[in-house]
Parts: sequence; structure tokens; C-alpha cells
Amino acid sequence: GGESTVTITVVGASGDLAKKKIFPALFALFYEGCLPKHFTVYGYARSKMTNEELRTMISRTLTCRIDQRENCGDKIEKFLQRCFYQSGQYNSEEDFSRLDKALKEHEGIRLANRLFYLSIPPDIFIEVARCASLRTSSSKGWTRVIVEKPFGRDSESSAELTRGLKNYLTEEQIYRIDHYLGKELVENMSVLRFSNLVFEPLWSRQYIRNVQLIFSEDFGTEGRGGYFDNYGIIRDIMQNHLLQILALFAMEPPVSLDAEDMRNEKVKVLRSMRPLKLEDVVVGQYKSHYKGGIKYPGYTDDKTVPRNSITPTFAAAALFIDNARWDGIPFLMKAGKALHSRRTEIRVQFRHVPGHLFKRSFGMDLDHATNELVIRVQPDEAIYLKINNKVPGLGMRLDRSNLNLLYSDRYSREIPDAYERLLLDAIEGERRLFIRSDELDAAWSLFTPLLKDLEEKKVAPELYPYGSRGPVGAYYLAAKHNVRWGDLGAETQNT
Ligand code: BG6
Repeated sequence: GGESTVTITVVGASGDLAKKKIFPALFALFYEGCLPKHFTVYGYARSKMTNEELRTMISRTLTCRIDQRENCGDKIEKFLQRCFYQSGQYNSEEDFSRLDKALKEHEGIRLANRLFYLSIPPDIFIEVARCASLRTSSSKGWTRVIVEKPFGRDSESSAELTRGLKNYLTEEQIYRIDHYLGKELVENMSVLRFSNLVFEPLWSRQYIRNVQLIFSEDFGTEGRGGYFDNYGIIRDIMQNHLLQILALFAMEPPVSLDAEDMRNEKVKVLRSMRPLKLEDVVVGQYKSHYKGGIKYPGYTDDKTVPRNSITPTFAAAALFIDNARWDGIPFLMKAGKALHSRRTEIRVQFRHVPGHLFKRSFGMDLDHATNELVIRVQPDEAIYLKINNKVPGLGMRLDRSNLNLLYSDRYSREIPDAYERLLLDAIEGERRLFIRSDELDAAWSLFTPLLKDLEEKKVAPELYPYGSRGPVGAYYLAAKHNVRWGDLGAETQNT
């Protein structure tokens, strides 16, 4: 009983992530009435700032979605009145004690819950966790800490980070974000599989030929090179975002939707996978390119990147799951920056129809016309299934069509940003979409040997022009496994 309050402290309040994602997500939750009645938002960082200055900074980032236009300005004003600022060092227990005092003034006698979002560089995660846990933990309510990648750069450094955090926090207090798990179509994957009779029975090596996980962006590092160059695309996208999607795609049905049941299945499937080898990957890096009189910069033209960097901005990889369901089926991943389009999708290519009835009777070439299910995570969220269909009319001619669920046609609501869902879940203590430490370890085990090899052997990336479809090596890698990338062929109607 009694009333409780929650305070969300954004540590690193003036950083990019805070401004672009966290404050806007908190506001959207407020607008929707999803935040508890008594909530306070605190910004914490080193620089001196008044509450008013913080509010001005936040207000510049806030916009109302199309379906949230009503009373927008009013809501923004109300939200800003709940925002406060406290300056302090990241490694000073005294400063966190001062924060504690400030929080208490807002909390009064209510049961106080506290959520910390560490929107700071990873080398100070542990210091902040230490100070916050020792000096700013709630005495009666819960205290939770959200952290976001990079979680180290390999198995060892990741384990070290986990150990460091666990000196001050229990696993139950740590919320590790992979923001791809907060995306609508990623969360929908379990619904698609487990609540439709027609998909799950096909979800195995018996009917599926290969699965493709594709991430592409049509812009380069653009000033973020300082962070990126130390990590590269494999750590930035594959080891986390794409691997998480793969785990959800390929896991066995969970006992229930509870966080631990779901995460147990994800860990199991990750542990059934073969660690990657050098011959399973192709790496690339974008180079400058002239188009329409404009010069698009190469990766090493970025001022924040060393001239001679061989950090991959593109990678393609073939992964295998050595279990009964997926034995021998290639899971192909492709991730790259500065490619021709921005897109994240999952492509499931099904096997040939046995018997070739139409080929025998009408000589039709259906060799390439196998069914393909596409889950387009972004942009223009959609799920569509490519089927063969008879062209209406006399005679018998087949063509390819799509059964198409385009979200913007079907649902009028705008899709919330991933951070909204994840912040709300963290406030509510729902851990299903957060990464457990054993899951993180399993994910690193798959990529660490490969990453070491790439670095020790100084494997040179294949250069590809900014805005292109990436290095040709990716085609050969796929061909080696009898796969054609589904995103390269001409798409049929309305996709
Ligand atoms: C981040 C990566 O995790 O995801 C960035 O560090 C990438 O390099 C971003 O641009 C992509 O996220 P989204 O949600 O824009 O697809």
C-alpha cells in the first residue's frame, strides 16, 4: 500500500543518447500517461547547469508525434516542470550523496524507487555504479541501473565489466539494453511464430533453406568515428543487434513468456552455435565516391578516424546452429554503413516445392521462385510472404506476388520508439527484453575468436564505394553456401 514515487536519473544528461533518445522517450511515455503519478526526472553530469538550462536543453529535443498533437505544448511544459539537474563528478561518492539528498527532497515520505540510466562512456560504468549503489540507493524501494553497449570488446573485457558491476549491483538490478529488442517487429517475432499455426511447423531445416539478417545504413560514421574505430561493425551491430534477432528467430518455444523462460531459450540457442571462423566472414570498409557532383567521404576521411584504419564498416558472415532444428542451415548476416539504403530485415527463404508439378506440365522456371518470408524491421515496417500465383485469365501463367502486411496501412497508430518500450519495462521491472549476463557471455564467445583473428592477422577490408551495395565478397560468401541475398534481386510489387 501507500503511494510510491519513481525518479529516473539520466547520468550523462548532456550526451547525445540522452538528448536524442532518452528524454524524448520519457516525454512520450509521460504524454501517453504511462509514467507513474509521482515521477521525477533528474539529469546528472559534470558541467554546471541550472534546472532552467536543463529544461531548455531538453525542450529542444522534444516533439509530439502526429497522434500526440493535442495539448502538446502544455504537456511539454508539465513534463519539464518535473525535470531537475544536479552536477557532480562521476567518481565522487560525496557528489552522489548530494544527489541522494536532492532526490529525497522530491520523494518526501513516499516509497521511493530509483532508476539510473548510465548514458556515459563504458570506462566509467563501474565507478558510477559504485557511487550510485553506495550513496544513492533507495532505502526501501527498488534501485535499478540501465546500461547500454559497448559491453567490453571481447569475452574477457565483457566478463570484467560484468564482474565490476556485480561488485555493487545484483544481476536483478542490472538492465542491459539492446535497443533492437525494443523494436516493434522484433518483439512481434514471437507472436508471429507462436500464435500462428501456419509458421511454426515450417520453422526448421525441413522447410527453410536459409535465413538472412540484413542491416544497412545509408550514412557513414559522420563524426562518431572515435567510438566506432575501436569497435567496428561486427561489435557495433552483429554481435548484439543481429545476433539477438537471430536468437529470437531460432530459439525453441519457451515454457512461458516470463523473462527467465525466454532468456533461457535464447541462451540455449546461442550456445548451440558454432563460433565464427575467418573463412565464414567478409569484411569491408567504405571509400569516398563521387556522385552527381558530390563527393561522399570515405571512412578514413572522417577526422575522428586514423588515416590507416582497417576497421570494418561492413561485414557479412555465415553462422550455423548445431542443433536438431537447424543442422546445416546457413544463417547469413550482413551489416554495413554507407550503403545504398537504410534497412533492417529478416529474410527466410524456403525450400523448393517437391515434385515440380508446374515445371513438368508447363515448363515453368520455378527454380528461383521459392517462397520467401520477409520481416522488415525498418523503415516502413512490414511482414510479407512471396508466393507464386496464377496470373488471372485463360491459360496458365504464374507470377510472383506478395501477401503483404504493411503496418502503415493496417494500423493507424504510430509505432513507439524502442527506448519508450524499454524504459517503461525497466520502470515496471519487466526484464524480458533485457540481456542477461550469461546471454552476453554466450554472444561474445561466438565472436571473440574471430575478432582476435581479424586483428592479429590485420585482415584488410575490401573497399566499397560510399552508397554502393557493399563488397562483392559478400556475394561469394553467400554463393559458397548456395545462397542468393534476397535484398539484391528486383522486388516484386508493392514492397
Ligand atoms: C547503434 C549503433 O547501436 O545502432 C549505431 O551503435 C547504429 O552505429 C544504430 O547507427 C542503429 O540504430 P537504429 O535504431 O537507428 O537502427
